[in-house]
Order: sequence, then structure tokens, then C-alpha cells
Amino acid sequence: MSYNIALNFEDGVTRFVSCNDGETVLDAAYRAQINLPMDCSDGVCGTCKGACHQGDFDMGEEYIDEALSDEEADRGMVLTCQMVPSSDCVVEVPVASTMCKTGNAEVTGTVAEVNLISPTSIELKIAADDDIAFLPGQYVNIQVPDTEETRAYSFSSKPGSRDLSFLIRNVPGGLMSSWLVGKARTGDKVTLTGPMGSFYLRPVERSILMLAGGTGLAPMLAKLEYLKVHGCDQPTHLVYGVSNDDDLVCLDILDRFAAELDNFSYVTVVSGEDSDHPRKGYVTEHMDEAPLNDGDVDVYLCGPPPMVDSVLGFFREQGIEPNSFHYEKFTPSAPAAKENVA
Ligand SMILES: Cc1cc2nc3c(=O)[nH]c(=O)nc-3n(C[C@H](O)[C@H](O)[C@H](O)COP(=O)(O)OP(=O)(O)OC[C@H]3O[C@@H](n4cnc5c(N)ncnc54)[C@H](O)[C@@H]3O)c2cc1C
Ligand code: FES
Repeated sequence: MSYNIALNFEDGVTRFVSCNDGETVLDAAYRAQINLPMDCSDGVCGTCKGACHQGDFDMGEEYIDEALSDEEADRGMVLTCQMVPSSDCVVEVPVASTMCKTGNAEVTGTVAEVNLISPTSIELKIAADDDIAFLPGQYVNIQVPDTEETRAYSFSSKPGSRDLSFLIRNVPGGLMSSWLVGKARTGDKVTLTGPMGSFYLRPVERSILMLAGGTGLAPMLAKLEYLKVHGCDQPTHLVYGVSNDDDLVCLDILDRFAAELDNFSYVTVVSGEDSDHPRKGYVTEHMDEAPLNDGDVDVYLCGPPPMVDSVLGFFREQGIEPNSFHYEKFTPSAPAAKENVA
């Protein structure tokens, strides 16, 4: 028996290691040539301290209070030299991956499909040549073929499959967008590095509210795929906002989730003035329909930076403090073209 342990480093890199029954996380990482911080390896110095909020494990009784206090243990802190997992776990390591002589994994793959599913959205499917483990909500950097440039994209597919999919905004004149729309062909080789990011689904212990702007829907789809496999016994609601009617994509997939996932519901919102959508405006104008549960809710927010900033501002102004709040901004890699001032 072995367990998958996700090691999330401070610089956003995630590496997965396989931990055998009875093995400590520190030893499992070492076997995978990842040198986690350590000194005594006896539960005395506290050098290997990290945190684990996801998964089951035993810390034994061999460590001393100076290394890890009861109060720290109650907050989910762990000593990786003592921690023996009894399920898959996510461990936060408070140093950069480079400090542990590791970094992003690189996987190659083949373009399986490129579909322009709306004038503004591209569905990219890649068949990975190797396993690429990720947590639902994480992203990878994909190299733009024939260039040194990479672009970050959140997986929209379910973890555990080599059939990867992505939902990508078609940015006019954008490097990756132009390659996808103009040049990409089935069978083209691509290189992915990752996974990365902390926008992953946490243990589902209360209502979930997902707020997606445009292609910010992608990581929500991965989370919903995960919930479909692992069950969803808490109310999960998605508010999906776009600029124009044309931008609303993947509604067939969302309808399928609504039919198949017991506690899932969603609404769409369109902000464009020309739209005759029944819910017009921005996501923040339709929060009355979002179950905030007096703050007893885990919120996941993703989209272009202005949308994310405006929702963050809304929560601040309304004084709403959810149990947890996770967000990802789809910040462009290239600086926006400067406006010409006459
Ligand atoms: C963590 C992370 C995850 C991401 N995940 C996704 C994802 O799942 N799906 C997705 O579509 N994008 C995602 N992005 C954004 C993505 O990485 C690229 O920035 C985007 O696809 C544009 O790439 P491009 O090469 O086509 O355009 P670029 O060549 O990078 O940009 C060309 C020009 O367009 C501007 N621009 C770039 N993006 C936009 C935009 N959205 N609206 C208006 N102008 C823009 C740039 O500033 C530049 O001036 C993510 C970004 C981050 C940081
Ligand atoms: S390495 Fe010293 S307590 Fe773990």
C-alpha cells in the first residue's frame, strides 16, 4: 500500500511523491531525491516543520514539545520526519523547491484537439506522454511551440488522467492564442511544466461558493470533475460571469454536473449591454443568489484580474468573511499594450 503525497513548496511548485505504508514523508521525499529541510530526523529540532490540512496521518509520540507544540499540532502543523501518512495527503513545505534540490516536473504531450468553442474561447486537449499528477484547481506552464515563451493554464480536466484539457481565452494577437488558432495541428508536440499553484480544492466540510469570470471557469471544472468522482455532500454553487453572450461556454458540461452531482447548482451572468440574458451585470450584482451561509462557506474565485479585484472589494465592503477564501488571477504574462495618447 502506498499513498500520494503532494508537497506544496513556498514558490508554488508542487511535487508528488509516493509514500509507502509506515514510511515518513521525509523518507519518501528523500527516496524521490527531494531533500526536505531536516536536521535531527528525530523529532527534536523542528527544522522539518510543515503543515498538513488534507489527509490522514500519524505523528506518533516520539517528538518533543520544543519541536512541535500541541497548539501547533492542533493548527495542522506537522514534522515531516515523524509524519506517517495513512491516506493521500497535501503537505505545505515552507521553503522554495530549489532549496530542496527540486523544481517543476516537465512532461511532454501531443495536441489531441484544438476547438474554437466560441469566438473568444478555445478548448485545448493534450494527450500527455507520461503521468502528470495535479490537485484540482492547479495550473501548468505550457511552452508556446517554436518560442522560449510559456503561458500558464489551469487544468479543466480531472486529475489522474493523461487526457488533459484546458479552456483558453482567445486573446487577439496573443502569442499562444495565435499559435492555437492559426498553427496548432493534431499531433503537434508540446511541453508542460508543473503543476503549480495553491488554488486547489480543500477538504469539503461546508458549503462551497465558486465565482468564475470567463475562462476562470477552467479550474472550477477540474474541481467539479474531482467532486463527481469523490462525491459532493455539501451545497456547491457556481456563479459564472462573462462579458458577452458569446463568451458563455461549457454549459452542456455544467448542465451535466447539475444533473449528476447531488448538491451542485449554477447560474450564469452576462455584463454586456447588448445582452438580453436574464441575469445581466457583474457577478457582484448577483451575489444575493449566492449562498453565503453567514460566512460558513469556502469561496473559490478565479478570472481576469479586474474581475477578481472587484469581487475581493465586494467582500471587503460588505464585511463578509468566509471561512476560507481562495483566489487565482489570470494575470497576463506579456504587459498590456500601452494606449497611444494623441
Ligand atoms: C496562474 C494562471 C493561470 C492561468 N490560467 C488560464 C486559463 O486556464 N485560461 C486562460 O484563458 N488563461 C489563463 N491564464 C492567462 C494565460 O496564461 C495567458 O496570459 C493568456 O492566455 C494570454 O496568452 P497569449 O499568449 O495568448 O497572449 P499574450 O501574448 O500573453 O498577450 C498579448 C496581449 O494581450 C494582453 N492580454 C493577455 N491576456 C488578456 C486578457 N485575458 N484580456 C485582455 N488582454 C489580454 C496582454 O497584456 C498583451 O498585451 C492564466 C494565468 C495565470 C497567471
Ligand atoms: S528533522 Fe528535526 S524534528 Fe524533524
